[in-house]
Amino acid sequence: MKRIVILISGRGSNMQAIVQRCVQQRWPAVVAAVIANRQGAEGLEFAAAHGIQTAVVDHRAYVSRAAFDEALAAAIDPFAPDLIVLAGFMRILGDGFVQRHAGRLLNIHPSLLPAFPGLHTHRRALAAGCKVVGATVHFVTPELDHGPIVMQSAVPVLPGDDEEALAARVLATEHVIYPQAVRWFVEDRLVIENGLVRQLDGAVQVLL
Ligand code: GAR
Repeated sequence: MKRIVILISGRGSNMQAIVQRCVQQRWPAVVAAVIANRQGAEGLEFAAAHGIQTAVVDHRAYVSRAAFDEALAAAIDPFAPDLIVLAGFMRILGDGFVQRHAGRLLNIHPSLLPAFPGLHTHRRALAAGCKVVGATVHFVTPELDHGPIVMQSAVPVLPGDDEEALAARVLATEHVIYPQAVRWFVEDRLVIENGLVRQLDGAVQVLL
């Protein structure tokens, strides 16, 4: 059984999708804990209601990123995770933390990376006149929103779309590709070769 720790900052809908699929599809894995950097992160309630241990490491209580990373590591380590899943976790993790967990740290970002790393991805995609947008699940490396891509989803930008409509259309696909990527990881179906991720069964790594 692989042990998963999920980090969230708010709503946690991706975390919920992963928790549900893990049980429904009987992955060889258990979500051991859900940890938030914000007291009152909405997703914590869902996790607790599903019998998952929760914790809060409030970033505002720490003077530096390094001190926060250290406290976060101290909260995570007792759960001995094989995989740490960033699911709407809106804090940048320091190089030391990332390097320590290299190859077992996944993130989802609401853009077709390498386009639009950082914040306000949908607003920026609309401003750029993009006709296709999407989401990316990737392994985390020290460079923000970079790292080997596991899976992507693509959706059209439709006439009249605003930021909210686009975010909702992309989010629905996140709930498909993130559980899929995590499942592949816990089933040992992923390898990283020369910075690229290969799915060992030759499965299609894009949702169109
Ligand atoms: C998701 O759209 C996720 O891709 C995004 O935050 C949202 C969290 O929603 N993540 C980032 O922007 C990370 N840079 P959720 O809390 O309902 O899963």
